[in-house]
Amino acid sequence: MLVDRFGRKHTSLRVSVTDRCNLRCTYCMPADTPDYCERDSILTFEEITRVVRIAAGLGVDDVRLTGGEPLVRSQLHKLVASIGDVAGVKKVSLTTNAILLADQLPDLHAAGLRGVNISLDALDEASFAEVTRRPGMQRVLDAIDACRSLGVKVKVNAIAMKDFTERQIVAFGEFTRLTSIPIRFIEFMPLDADGNWDDSRVLSGQKILDLFAEQVGPLFSKGEPNASPATDYTFEDGVGTIGIIASVTQPFCSTCNRFRLTADGQLRNCLFGSDSGDVRLLLRDGSSDQEIADRMVAAVMAKKRGHGTDDLSFDRPSRPMYSIGG
Ligand code: GTP
Ligand code: 5AD
Ligand code: SF4
Repeated sequence: MLVDRFGRKHTSLRVSVTDRCNLRCTYCMPADTPDYCERDSILTFEEITRVVRIAAGLGVDDVRLTGGEPLVRSQLHKLVASIGDVAGVKKVSLTTNAILLADQLPDLHAAGLRGVNISLDALDEASFAEVTRRPGMQRVLDAIDACRSLGVKVKVNAIAMKDFTERQIVAFGEFTRLTSIPIRFIEFMPLDADGNWDDSRVLSGQKILDLFAEQVGPLFSKGEPNASPATDYTFEDGVGTIGIIASVTQPFCSTCNRFRLTADGQLRNCLFGSDSGDVRLLLRDGSSDQEIADRMVAAVMAKKRGHGTDDLSFDRPSRPMYSIGG
C-alpha cells in the first residue's frame, strides 16, 4: 500500500502520455509551440504498462490518462487495453480536450474505456477560441454526442476564470439540465505556462454558486460522498449537476489519493512542488520491479501535507500543467 506520512492512501495514478497538445489554452500553454520533451524521453506504452503493473501491486486501482492532449498520441486505445488488463486495475479513464475524440471513440470504447472528462470552458465558438486560441468547439460537442450514443460517461471540466466564466453560467446551466452531463468548474490554478496567474484572476467556487443562484436558480449540495475532488450540486428540481473543484480556495489536499507519472517518466507526488522520482532511468537501466516500487514508495513518503498556494512563500511549480499532466 502507498500510504504517506499523513495516512493518505494512494490508489489513483494519473499518467501523462504526452506533453504535446493541439490547443493552446491560456491557463495552461504558451501561445507559441513550446519546447516539447524529446521523443525518446517519452515513455513507451510497454514502459507505462509496466509502471502501472508495479503501482497496481502497491494498491493502485484507478488510472487516468492525461496529457498535454492524450489523443494526439497515436493508438492510445492500445494503451487503454493493456492497462485495463493489469490485475488490480478497476478503472481506466481519460481527461481530454475531445478535439480528436469522436474519431477514436469506437476503438477506445472497445478497449474498455468507460469514462471521459472533457475540458470545455465555453459554449460559444468565440469564447472557446478566446481561451483555447484555436477553433473547434463543435468538434468537442460532436464528441460529447458520440459518447452519449455509446454510453461512455462524460463529465465536463470548465476552468473558472474571472472576467470570462461569468458569461458562461446560463449556457452551462441549460447544458447540464438538458443533457444531465455534470459540469465541473475548476478554480484557475497557478500552472499556466505564461505565468499570468494571480489570485485576482481566480473565480472562486463560492462565486460560481452565487452566479448560478442569480442567473439560473439556487444550487443544493447533492451530499454524495465521492472520491472526486468535486463537490456536486443540483437545482431545486434535481435536474442537472454542477460540480465545484475549489483547488485554490478549499484545497482537497487532506484527502488526496493521487500521484502522477509525467510523459517523460518522472513521478510527481503533487501537482505542485517538483518531480519526485526518476522512473524512466530505472525502466531503462535494467532495474527490477522492486527497485521501481521502492522509488514509488519514496515519492509518496516525500509528499507534503498540502500544496500551500495560500502561503505567501509559495513557489510556482517549475513545470506548467501541460507538461505535468492535468
Ligand atoms: P474524477 O474521478 O472523474 O472526479 O476525476 P478528476 O476530477 O480527478 O479528474 P480530472 O482530470 O477531470 O481533473 C479535474 C481537475 O481537477 C483537473 O483539471 C485539475 O485542475 C484538478 N486536479 C486534478 N488532480 C489534482 C490534484 O492532484 N491536485 C489539485 N490541486 N488539483 C487537481
Ligand atoms: N488550473 C486549473 N486547471 C487546469 N487545467 C489546465 N490548466 C489548469 C490550470 N491552470 C485543467 C484542464 C483540464 C485538465 C487537463 O487540467 O482544464 O481539465
Ligand atoms: Fe491542451 Fe489541456 Fe493544456 Fe488546453 S488545458 S492547452 S487542452 S493540455
